[in-house]
Amino acid sequence: MKLSVAVIAGLLAAQALGARAQAPPVSPDPDARARATQARLADGERTELTHSAIALPIHGLKPPPGAPYGAGYVPGIARLGVPALTETDASLGVAYVLGLRKDGATALPSGIAMGSTWDPALVHEGGALIASEAHAKGFDVLLAGGVNLVRDPRGGRDFEYFSEDPLLTGVLGGAAVAGVQSRHVISTVKHFALNATETGRHFHDAVIGEAALRMSDLLAFQIAIEQGRPGAVMCAYNRVNGASACGSDYLLNRVLKHDWAYPGFVMSDWGATDGTADALAGLDQQSGQQLDKAVWFGADLQVAARRDPAYRARLADMDRRILRSIYAVSVDADPPKLAPVDPAVGAALARRLADEGIVLLRNRGDALPLASTAKRIAVIGGHADAGVLSGGGSSQVEAQGGPAVSVPTTGEGLAAALSAQNYQGSSPLKAIEARAPGADVRYRDGRYITDAVIAAKEADVAIVFATQWSREGFDLPDLSLPDGQDALIAAIAAANPRTIVVLETGGPVLMPWLEKTAAVMEAWYPGARGGEAIADVLFGDADPSGRLPVTFPASVDQLPRPALPGAQTIEPDVTGRGRPGDHLTIDYKIEGADVGYRWFAREQRTPLFPFGYGLSYTTFQRTDLSVSAGASPSATFTISNTGRRSGVDVAQVYLVRTPDGPTRRLVGFARVTLPPGEAKHLSVAIDPRLLAQWTPAGWRLAAGPYQFALDSNAEKEDAQALATMRERIW
Ligand code: BGC
Repeated sequence: MKLSVAVIAGLLAAQALGARAQAPPVSPDPDARARATQARLADGERTELTHSAIALPIHGLKPPPGAPYGAGYVPGIARLGVPALTETDASLGVAYVLGLRKDGATALPSGIAMGSTWDPALVHEGGALIASEAHAKGFDVLLAGGVNLVRDPRGGRDFEYFSEDPLLTGVLGGAAVAGVQSRHVISTVKHFALNATETGRHFHDAVIGEAALRMSDLLAFQIAIEQGRPGAVMCAYNRVNGASACGSDYLLNRVLKHDWAYPGFVMSDWGATDGTADALAGLDQQSGQQLDKAVWFGADLQVAARRDPAYRARLADMDRRILRSIYAVSVDADPPKLAPVDPAVGAALARRLADEGIVLLRNRGDALPLASTAKRIAVIGGHADAGVLSGGGSSQVEAQGGPAVSVPTTGEGLAAALSAQNYQGSSPLKAIEARAPGADVRYRDGRYITDAVIAAKEADVAIVFATQWSREGFDLPDLSLPDGQDALIAAIAAANPRTIVVLETGGPVLMPWLEKTAAVMEAWYPGARGGEAIADVLFGDADPSGRLPVTFPASVDQLPRPALPGAQTIEPDVTGRGRPGDHLTIDYKIEGADVGYRWFAREQRTPLFPFGYGLSYTTFQRTDLSVSAGASPSATFTISNTGRRSGVDVAQVYLVRTPDGPTRRLVGFARVTLPPGEAKHLSVAIDPRLLAQWTPAGWRLAAGPYQFALDSNAEKEDAQALATMRERIW
């Protein structure tokens, strides 16, 4: 088969565009089993497991017989009972692969929506659900667990990630992975590391100091790996401090495998392997081999292993690591079994996740919840009559039958499928009508401001749906709502003082109209039952319990990099591979480990909405904070519901001062549901790494006083508790 690398790279990378969770079960002694099987591999079998092929019928590619359509396929070794690895994307549900799969799957809300739940137990259920569906569709590997930190609110994949904070991201990512693997499906965590933006993603160099890296992005991975024990880690496309992430001896050999003693395998991102030598840097499996210049980890690696003891030792280790994950997750004992999937089960969970992830940002004069007695309601814009927006790229999931609305943007054929803005078939309009049966509910698509304003004027309440689409492979040029939606919202808010804005965005947006509105709700990309979830919160059937997992800046000037790196120099393209001569360095030394709210605290900048922020329909009091010192510090406190409705609080404990001076770090959190008038005394463990600094000798806790604050967001800094720590290095 003759494949044009350029065509395949273009089209297949286009396809690509296109509280502690319970630990997953580990089968007895996977290491011993892996050693035994590896010892029985014949010479020709040693590179069977070390590379995967794209399993899609596009551009001359033929999926291997028996391989379900998905991102990758590794044939097993039947003689030794080693199952094939059947790989699919992932974090938000079993991927749609540009509509090539027709069977549909449950689309969970976006990663950032799950991040807003601050609810590891529910995110664990989400992982388990996706894995159950994957298992029933023939897959045993999910390319899930996106735990990159949101470093730039314009990042095209921010919607896939959980948050800007290492603890929140690590705990939720670990929970998702543990959920996946509880169903005997291997999960990755990805993209290791610092793949924070998409511009020039195949070549940009993310530059940062070691201490800052260890205390931020790497800490998120470390916590997710400890809690989720993923069978695989997917290394990223980009470079980190000069070395390609998939050929980085520092990241793979030193940090991941040596310092963290990670026992699983490292797979490359699709088309991110540069040569056989990446094996020596710690890469164990080449993914999407048709995207690379050669199948480096096939015959080439075999030849190298025959010749060179270093490669021979590595190849044995690579096989052992892949086998170990297969055994540890019991993939061989419970292989995928084709079975029908009940969409109602998935839909119910998608709705719960969306309910918990919706963040109420503004509620002037208790405009919400809406009374079901509202008489005239205008619903405007955002295709709210048909569905809710989803993000684009390899994570795209669709229900059977495909998107409810698909708005083309550019391209033809597969590229067009990749560039379409897809809406899940869950209509907010219908859900609102169902809640307000007696009301006159009118819909306007919002294309013409005049028409929308007439409808808004005639209504008691105007609900405007505003969307901002983002997708893998491209960053957003700024934080505005596109297509004139800001003007539409401003005009509606001027026409009707009871204007409620529902945002369906991938991440933070600016809100020039904010003060004119009665209420604003961030629904993110809310998934398969997003319309119903939005109505649940609008009408008060669910307390708005999401809290922002990212800071909403008041302007791009407040960011560490006001101009998006590469926006001026790199021509956006579907592959992200760039043109000859393209290069881009992104300087993360500016903020270092002070990502998101920590940057805002350090620079004393006031955001539009802080990290952790979100309103409830009731009120809470947070008291009695006390922090114990010692090797396993913990915080205890009391949360009381002081309002008149049942509601959910997300209590957040921040470190605000160390012996070195002021700081801001989330060190613990707890999501708690309380009936009115009730209180709960809670305790959360504090990971000492969150109090420490990374030094060349390891983590170092300086001796002296540490001050803590208990609050509902990252903005407040009044210390309420003090603990005196002893010096410790580990
Ligand atoms: C993405 C990965 C994805 C892979 C396979 C890549 O382009 O970066 O997140 O898992 O494609 O679809």
